[in-house]
Amino acid sequence: MLPEIYNMKANKSDFYNSSLNEASQTVFSEKHNVAHIAARRSLAHAYSMANVKSMEPQIQEVIDKWVTRLCTHEEKPFALYDRVLWLTFDVIGIMAFGEPFGFVEEWRDIRAMLERASKSTTSGAYLEIINLIPMLSRLATRTRIGRWLLLPFPTDKVGTGVLKAERDAAWAKYFERKQAGSAQCLLSQLLDKRTKLGQDALLGDDRIKAELLIAILAGTTTTATIITSVLLNVAEREECCAQLSNEITAAQESGGKVSYELTRSLSYLGACIQEAFRFSAAPTQFPRVVDSSREVELYGVRLPPGTILSSSSLIVARNEAIYGSQLDDFLPERWINMSEETKKARRKYDFRFGYGARTCLGKNLVEVEIYNTVFEVFRRTEVRVHNKAKGLISMQLRQSSCM
Ligand code: HEM
Repeated sequence: MLPEIYNMKANKSDFYNSSLNEASQTVFSEKHNVAHIAARRSLAHAYSMANVKSMEPQIQEVIDKWVTRLCTHEEKPFALYDRVLWLTFDVIGIMAFGEPFGFVEEWRDIRAMLERASKSTTSGAYLEIINLIPMLSRLATRTRIGRWLLLPFPTDKVGTGVLKAERDAAWAKYFERKQAGSAQCLLSQLLDKRTKLGQDALLGDDRIKAELLIAILAGTTTTATIITSVLLNVAEREECCAQLSNEITAAQESGGKVSYELTRSLSYLGACIQEAFRFSAAPTQFPRVVDSSREVELYGVRLPPGTILSSSSLIVARNEAIYGSQLDDFLPERWINMSEETKKARRKYDFRFGYGARTCLGKNLVEVEIYNTVFEVFRRTEVRVHNKAKGLISMQLRQSSCM
């Protein structure tokens, strides 16, 4: 059903009514497929692999420092996810504003940003609930008291408003240092485009700011979840860890710098990452509306226009026909020596980054970040899992680790 639900002209449902209280729509919140195409076109180059590759040296520098600090600045077993979030926030800082937020450099939750952002009724988890309940969503977006109570403002001390304030501060900082020249970040790409094309609704300040916020919200906890999953699951399984380390050592023997070209070519590393995406898939839904121009039939039932349909990565990831058996186990082997038929089915029903015209724009960044991070961790460190349920681990630099 994925091709039917997510056909290229499908519109998003009211679930996407923005609960972010921004002055503008974004590529993510545009519900109508035509408006979405224009929005996506304006961002395509900034998110392209060529552009992400131009930022790779800066991203790699943060990854290297992050790995070193995990081994040198953490004395006791630590909660891996919290530290991975520092990395993913810094990488988004580079991608969106041309420089990291500074978590890895300062090795702390700067300005208690992450702790404060996760609290209150305007944290991401609550905003998703608001969108799920139409009455609450109407209250939040159409009434003054609802907006005040439920939506985030940059002046808030807690909740998503904290991230808006950080976005605004990074925006101001970007213009202060602009004279010194900036990287090919999302902000500079969009400003350059505006200079060339002239200001339109898609490239006004409010719109650009809203897109920057989406990059922060869409690209941090999501990527952190997958990186944490690969590291914990591989480290926990001795044979898996040994196989990955051997592959990495062999790749290093041929010399050369760590690069996405190299990491992406490693088949067992790829298998571990694919399996982590499958194993840790989230139940988040991505609803679309059946419109009057097409008929959709599901299990023999004709669905009328207006019907809302959705799938989720979790549902797809637990499909035996596509992924085989033991779906509650982490088994990278299921990605090795696949038949052509299996490969085709997995490609066709790949839902990790969504489906159809609105697949994840950040996918290229995610790939470079995850492949290079997992490679660096297993190249340079020994990882010990202390408590998997709590995600507690410790790390030690290998004797032979060169930095
Ligand atoms: C492992 C990490 C990630 C996963 C699993 C993921 C997943 C997804 C999914 C499933 C969608 C489709 C949503 C829908 O249909 O409504 C999506 C859209 C999107 N993602 Fe990601 N994402 C990740 C990381 C990122 C990153 C790092 C960024 C930005 C730097 C990003 C930016 C976006 C944007 C802008 C969209 C909207 C695209 C559109 O509507 O055309 N994502 N993502």
